[in-house]
Amino acid sequence: MSQVMNPWEVKGDIDYDKLVKEFGISPLKELPDIFTKNVLFRRKVVFAHRDIQRILEAMKSKKPYVMMTGLMPTGKFHIGHMLVAQQMIFYQQHGAKLYIAVADLEAYNARGQSLEESRKIAIEEYITNYISLGLKPENCEIYFQSDRSTDAEKANAFYRLQNQLARYATFNEFKAVYGDITPGKMLSALLQASDMLHPQLAEFEGPVPVIVPVGIDQDPHLRLARDIAQRAKEFAFTQLSSTYHIFIPGLNGGKMSSSDSTSFIALTDSPEEIKKKINKYAFSGGKDTLEEHRKHGGNPDIDVSFQYLKYIFEPDDKKLQKLETDYRSGKLLSGELKAYLIDKMQSFVKTHAANREKAKKDLKKFIKT
Ligand code: TRP
Repeated sequence: MSQVMNPWEVKGDIDYDKLVKEFGISPLKELPDIFTKNVLFRRKVVFAHRDIQRILEAMKSKKPYVMMTGLMPTGKFHIGHMLVAQQMIFYQQHGAKLYIAVADLEAYNARGQSLEESRKIAIEEYITNYISLGLKPENCEIYFQSDRSTDAEKANAFYRLQNQLARYATFNEFKAVYGDITPGKMLSALLQASDMLHPQLAEFEGPVPVIVPVGIDQDPHLRLARDIAQRAKEFAFTQLSSTYHIFIPGLNGGKMSSSDSTSFIALTDSPEEIKKKINKYAFSGGKDTLEEHRKHGGNPDIDVSFQYLKYIFEPDDKKLQKLETDYRSGKLLSGELKAYLIDKMQSFVKTHAANREKAKKDLKKFIKT
């Protein structure tokens, strides 16, 4: 299947190496220990970047910096969404001030979803799960694109910036970056540019480096915002930094999609559902018969259960290595690998369910409820 990749549509097999070249981003290499202690960075779930150096310097010299990202509030919060949450928490623990945008206007204009629906999904699915995963209210601003701030000076500055940025973009550029474009999508792109650049305004943090962790489909938004930032000399923005993470495969090995419940594991799935979904849907790299498997071994590289362990559920490198070796040699069977994952995931969701109850009480520390 041919590949479609833009902020509003991701389809087909994703060739990450090709995207790195096409988009002109850089593979992430040598990172300081504080990063590689984290599975996401150590195992290259976060695999590429633009200008991360500026952030590494700020972290090293303990200078202020901002982590800014956004969420598109559609469907259930699944393990793919967890990647961004874990990065937010990582930067929060390492001194960043967080800005998190709920893209309710983007969902309205690009997906036809009402603001009320977006608000509900953002709170019940995304924000509650972020808190349950460890997000703290200190140094953390969560806002809705449609409702930036009750402080008029801040709100004015944010929407003023979106409008002023328009001057520095051309229609041809929009067409080149996004292909098929509508006025709604154009405004969404400018609004996202304002999301990413406004933390540097005097009404907010003033000039600071900003890191934007996103899925690679969001890079067009970054390219546009960076081009605009560079041209808009009057603002003297520090150029945006960004990192890109892979998409966690869906259960069937294809895309994990919040509109297809057989493709994902939600953080609110019950232990029984998890067992059923993994056993029934998780694509296996094992052989068809026991005899063949023992003889030729399985292929962890295409085995979805192994990927979930690698990217999220088995942080211990030695244990992961053993699973990989045993699976390849045929010593470990596909059913045994699945059982291992199911066990890890079940204990995770049990803890998570308890954390969610606490998180619901804490919501008001993060947003007006
Ligand atoms: N467009 C993003 C998405 O579809 C959401 C988003 C809005 C965002 N504003 C942002 C992401 C700023 C990063 C930075 O998921």
